[in-house]
Amino acid sequence: MLNIVKVSSDEQFNEVGAGLVAGLLQSNPRAILGLATGSTPVGVYSQLIELFQKGLISFAQTRSFNLDEYIGLAPDHPESYRRFMNEKLFNHIDIDMRNTHVPDGTAADPEQAALEYTRMLDEAGQIDLQLLGIGHNGHIGFNEPADELQAHTHVVELKKDTRAANARFFNSVDEVPTHAMTMGIGSILKSRQILLMAKGASKADILKRALTGPLTTQCPASLLQTHPNVVILVDQAAGGRLS
Ligand code: PGA
Repeated sequence: MLNIVKVSSDEQFNEVGAGLVAGLLQSNPRAILGLATGSTPVGVYSQLIELFQKGLISFAQTRSFNLDEYIGLAPDHPESYRRFMNEKLFNHIDIDMRNTHVPDGTAADPEQAALEYTRMLDEAGQIDLQLLGIGHNGHIGFNEPADELQAHTHVVELKKDTRAANARFFNSVDEVPTHAMTMGIGSILKSRQILLMAKGASKADILKRALTGPLTTQCPASLLQTHPNVVILVDQAAGGRLS
């Protein structure tokens, strides 16, 4: 079941996104959060920090699992997703860092590290709320369009268009890592609830295709149509082709 929430300002976008997380934490302080990086959730994280500072929510008993990480970037690399999460959220709230999980991009054996991440996820049980962005090619996490998709955490080669889209954070596209480790589609779909967030006109076509087109591994986000509880949070531009 897809519930589309179309908002008309960034402020509203962040309030609705953070509100969903905050409501969950207020009813279940031990909730497990699935977290995403990228530009889209940054304002939602800022809003969550504000709610924490006002004493309205606490992350003290929360555990988190991030979707993905670049292979080869150390946790302190300016563009690593571990550093992103620390700077945009974790350093400003009361979460126990030991309860935050981001795939290890510098593991000597990435395949083994992916298995270990899957084991930790299985042990945690079920993610209560998974935050997601969407790539222009329909990727969720770094599950890129392909003939086959993987259920569990795995190493993936990034598509040229994904590396090009993320080049804006690096000095050049050549510096964007060629591989990443990502949670699989199975782990994402196992979440109790999913919040898919998208902003801007450049996401309008892929959202339409993902949410109303056929289910296909060539558009990984289309598989969200099979999930019983997805909230799609969009601004007017991204939601321009959704009714
Ligand atoms: P963005 O990335 O939030 O920076 O647009 C989304 C994604 O590629 O998953």
